[in-house]
Amino acid sequence: MMKTTLILVSMLSSFLARAAPTRSLIERATNQSTHVIYFPPLDYSPHPVGIPYTIQNTSTEPWLHLVEPSSPRVNVFATKPTCSSLSPSGSSQFWYEAITHNGQSSFMNSSYKANYKVFRNVVTDYGADNTGIKDASSAIQSAIAAGATNGPSRSSTSMGTTGQPAVVYIPSGTYLMEDSIQLYVGTVIIGDPLNPPILKASSNFPNDHIVYGKDPNHDGTINFYIAFKNIIIDSTSVSGSTTITLMDWTVSQATQLTNVVFNMPDNSTGHTGLSTTYGYNSNVILNDLTFYGGVVGMSLSGQQWVFKNITIISATTGVVAGGTNLVFVGCTFKNVETGINATGISGSLTLIDSTASTLGSLITSYDSGNAGNSIILENVVNGGNTVTLGSSVVKSGSVTGTWIHGNYYAPGNANARHEKGHSTTTPRSSVLISNGNYFTMRPPTYQGYSVSQFINIKSVSAYPVYGDGATDDTKNINAILSHYADCKIIYFPAGTYIVTNTIIVPAGSRIIGDAYGSAISAVGSNFHNPNAPTTMVQVGNLGDVGVAQISDMLFTVADALQGCKLVEVNIAGSTPGDVGLWNSHFRIGGAAGSKVQTNCAGSPDICKAAWGLLHLTNTSSAYIENMWGWTADHDLDGSHGQTISTGRGMLVEATKGTWLVGTAMEHHTLYQYNFEYASNVFSALQQSETPYWQGPGNDLAPIPWASNLITSDPTFSNCGTSDATCRMAFFERIRGSSNLFLYGGCVWTFFNNGGSCNGDCQQNAIRVLTSQGNIYLYGTNVKSVTNLVVSTDTDIATESANAGGWGGVVAAYAYDA
Ligand SMILES: *[C@@H]1O[C@H](CO)[C@@H](O)[C@H](O)[C@H]1NC(C)=O
Ligand SMILES: *[C@@H]1O[C@H](CO)[C@@H](O)[C@H](O)[C@H]1NC(C)=O
Ligand SMILES: *[C@@H]1O[C@H](CO)[C@@H](O)[C@H](O)[C@H]1NC(C)=O
Ligand SMILES: *[C@@H]1O[C@H](CO)[C@@H](O)[C@H](O)[C@H]1NC(C)=O
Ligand SMILES: *[C@@H]1O[C@H](CO)[C@@H](O)[C@H](O)[C@H]1NC(C)=O
Ligand SMILES: *[C@@H]1O[C@H](CO)[C@@H](O)[C@H](O)[C@H]1NC(C)=O
Ligand SMILES: *[C@@H]1O[C@H](CO)[C@@H](O)[C@H](O)[C@H]1NC(C)=O
Repeated sequence: MMKTTLILVSMLSSFLARAAPTRSLIERATNQSTHVIYFPPLDYSPHPVGIPYTIQNTSTEPWLHLVEPSSPRVNVFATKPTCSSLSPSGSSQFWYEAITHNGQSSFMNSSYKANYKVFRNVVTDYGADNTGIKDASSAIQSAIAAGATNGPSRSSTSMGTTGQPAVVYIPSGTYLMEDSIQLYVGTVIIGDPLNPPILKASSNFPNDHIVYGKDPNHDGTINFYIAFKNIIIDSTSVSGSTTITLMDWTVSQATQLTNVVFNMPDNSTGHTGLSTTYGYNSNVILNDLTFYGGVVGMSLSGQQWVFKNITIISATTGVVAGGTNLVFVGCTFKNVETGINATGISGSLTLIDSTASTLGSLITSYDSGNAGNSIILENVVNGGNTVTLGSSVVKSGSVTGTWIHGNYYAPGNANARHEKGHSTTTPRSSVLISNGNYFTMRPPTYQGYSVSQFINIKSVSAYPVYGDGATDDTKNINAILSHYADCKIIYFPAGTYIVTNTIIVPAGSRIIGDAYGSAISAVGSNFHNPNAPTTMVQVGNLGDVGVAQISDMLFTVADALQGCKLVEVNIAGSTPGDVGLWNSHFRIGGAAGSKVQTNCAGSPDICKAAWGLLHLTNTSSAYIENMWGWTADHDLDGSHGQTISTGRGMLVEATKGTWLVGTAMEHHTLYQYNFEYASNVFSALQQSETPYWQGPGNDLAPIPWASNLITSDPTFSNCGTSDATCRMAFFERIRGSSNLFLYGGCVWTFFNNGGSCNGDCQQNAIRVLTSQGNIYLYGTNVKSVTNLVVSTDTDIATESANAGGWGGVVAAYAYDA
């Protein structure tokens, strides 16, 4: 994350910082906004403070006081229900609309907490008209803005980033929009997926966007925890020549925009589906979206994205994109003049498993002549011009194998070749494939299941679970998960569920939370030993085959727990997608309810806050989509310093098929990603950053974990003892692995020892050791890192030999193939 320096943007955001979402704000925004391509700003400073949490109960300190739950009644669950498999019942009512919503904001002062409702139904609670006759925008806005009935509004910046979770539910129907709606951090807008509600702009719609997704109080790079799903936004009543954008989405990691249809008039000269107009942003994924009509489907500018399953039909330009590293997977462009205008993509554009019928060209860009503006195509079906650079068509028709424009390291060849359109093949593993494409899927909504097929984990009276940030919920969560495996889907309402030992998620589990609001948080001495870590959430046992799906959950620690491995997955599905995590995220520190937030302002060795985040073991096979594994670099809920050392990011030892679609790992000490004897992995976008505190003047890796290393950890013995820029976290370490297909990798190094840095701030991004073959890295980007890839001890791809983008870009690395 970083601060933009663009004057227009800072003028606008400082205005927005003061204003509530009134008509005048929207007019000002309208009149000031013009489309700006934000190239990454060149100077940064760490974000020192977050949003104040003035109505926090700072005496809810689970690391000091833990409430014991009342004991369960004996033998209540002696008989396990007989239900061997759970399947959709064809429900016509969305379970989420009908289930009891008893979530909470766990760390809020109790004077307000009881009066704060997380779930808001815009029709039944706020009287929104869903017949399309009367304006519904003000009722929806009231639902979004409501704080506690006796407390401050959600627009008031008084509940931090994490203290104001709000799920705004929009039932089916048509909602007339005579004004815009404005979201804030912590807002989840969710429509009925069985019959998605339509937000329909009135013919005289007054503003330049129908939905403002970015919280105007904060810049885009710290707009986290916002979601919008299962909705149709419709501008077809607005004249096609009027300039209007259906939604602005200037937001960053741990956000979700999914299953949304953008309906615009045909042959429009003025309508755009999605923009990022309000400044710099660092988003990870947009998925399962459909755009009809308009002049432009998406007009975006930001740091990086993966776009998965995006369909754009009948726009003049599908996507005008500015950014560093962009990956498109499973996208469809139909009846568009230009599919992707990639002129503003400075690093790499990767397009795979996609189909187009374009009138002009699928991709237009220019030839930078260097490693930047790389283009990688694989398995793309297109009839006409496929890539046009300047005025030259350099590729037409379909690409069956892999097509590379940019720097290429051929197998065993340590010298980059600058290719102008090289064709090669990538032998994908069959276990990763479905109908010829890498397997991908929509996030589960469980929309076909009836509410009686769910259990609200806080509604089982014999086994009370509190999710209140104060009670030890370990035993009762385990009892409920074990009892209902294969029988029920488990809903975790918003709240912080404190656990003191391992939560076992057995085969046959489906778990869904209130996105960003439902947290499992570890505390206690079981998590203290860094040499024998305890798992907080264990998904299946080694060797299990079955179903285990987790959606919309957050994993965190309430104390500095150097022996806590947050999530371990052991189970494999019998079909892809049976096991997975969707829109589920990690946060170490940086938020209310954890001692890490308040006690880690000093040096990293006194704040070893977690052993590691995610371990995919050698018997697992999981599909992971939209995940941000974040060790905090700043306080989201206040102004405490955050110098935190988490040992490890994601450790992958899986071999049976792993899909990583839109993942980010940031600020972990030894590595962000580690592939140890892993095989058969597909990844579409891995975004990462090194800890801000690392580098000359601070602990040299593997310190502070030097005496707790396991065999898969890097020892940094490849570095001189005092070589500080070498002893920094690997973006990615790969050992003994095979069949890795990693599209879109990026590591950005902004700081050394907390101070700004440009140039050679870090020595190595990726290290490949003893490859077993078929390792393909496509679209790898770095900022301020000397070597993109080191193979064993040889620097293969240096930033200087691959200058471009934000530093260095390698279109295709097949050296270790
Ligand atoms: C914005 O522009 C419109 C016309 O384009 C004008 O009527 C309105 O007064 C302007 N609003 C502000 C706040 O400048
Ligand atoms: C909670 O809020 C009440 C009312 O504003 C205030 O008097 C009290 O000091 C607050 N308590 C805490 C623990 O913040
Ligand atoms: C603060 O939290 C503590 C512990 O959870 C509780 O006992 C106390 O009543 C709460 N006080 C307020 C004002 O919220
Ligand atoms: C849009 O333009 C095309 C081509 O000119 C035409 O065939 C079609 O009827 C137009 N659609 C509308 C809704 O005007
Ligand atoms: C793509 O997204 C659309 C809209 O959400 C959905 O209907 C379709 O099933 C998705 N396709 C895949 C392969 O997931
Ligand atoms: C692509 O976008 C650039 C800058 O945004 C613009 O100058 C150019 O005309 C566009 N090209 C096409 C073919 O739309
Ligand atoms: C898988 O991992 C387990 C636990 O680390 C280990 O005991 C086992 O030998 C491994 N199996 C294989 C085939 O590598």
